[in-house]
Amino acid sequence: MRQFLTRSQRETAKLAKTLAQEIIKKPLKIGKALIIGLEGELGSGKTTFIKGFAKGLGIKRRLTSPTFVLLKKYKIPKNPNIYLYHLDCYRLNRTKDLLGLDFPEIIWIKFKIISEKERRIIIRN
Ligand SMILES: Nc1ncnc2c1ncn2[C@@H]1O[C@H](COP(=O)(O)OP(=O)(O)O)[C@@H](O)[C@H]1O
Ligand SMILES: [Mg+2]
Repeated sequence: MRQFLTRSQRETAKLAKTLAQEIIKKPLKIGKALIIGLEGELGSGKTTFIKGFAKGLGIKRRLTSPTFVLLKKYKIPKNPNIYLYHLDCYRLNRTKDLLGLDFPEIIWIKFKIISEKERRIIIRN
C-alpha cells in the first residue's frame, strides 16, 4: 500500500502520470488485463487522475467521460497491443464479467477529500 497527499489538481495528474509510466514499463501478459479501480466521492480527483494516467501512457487524445457509452477504448501509441479502456462502473455491476477475463490483476485506488486543495490518494495492489 502506498499513500500520497496531493495539494493541487496538477499534483494529482502528475502522480497518475508517474504511475502510468511505471506500469507501462512492466510487461503485460497476453489476454490479461490490469484493472485499476478508482473509488471516491464526486470531486475527489478520479477524472483528474485518469487524465494524467492517459498522458503517462502517451495518449494524446483528450479523455472524456464514458457517460453515454459503457466504455471508451484508447490506443497507446508506443504499445500497439495494449489499450486503455475507460469504464464507468456506476453503470455496471460486474465489469470483470463484461471483459471476460480470468484473474485480472487489480490495483485499487481510493481518493479522499482532505481539504479544498488536498486529496489523500491510497494505492493498493
Ligand atoms: N489535490 C487535488 N487533486 C485533484 N483535484 C483537486 C485537488 N485539489 C482541488 N481539486 C479540484 O477537485 C476537483 C476534482 O474533480 P474531478 O477530477 O473531476 O473529480 P471526480 O472525477 O472524482 O469527480 C477539480 O475541480 C479540481 O480542481
Ligand atoms: Mg469524474
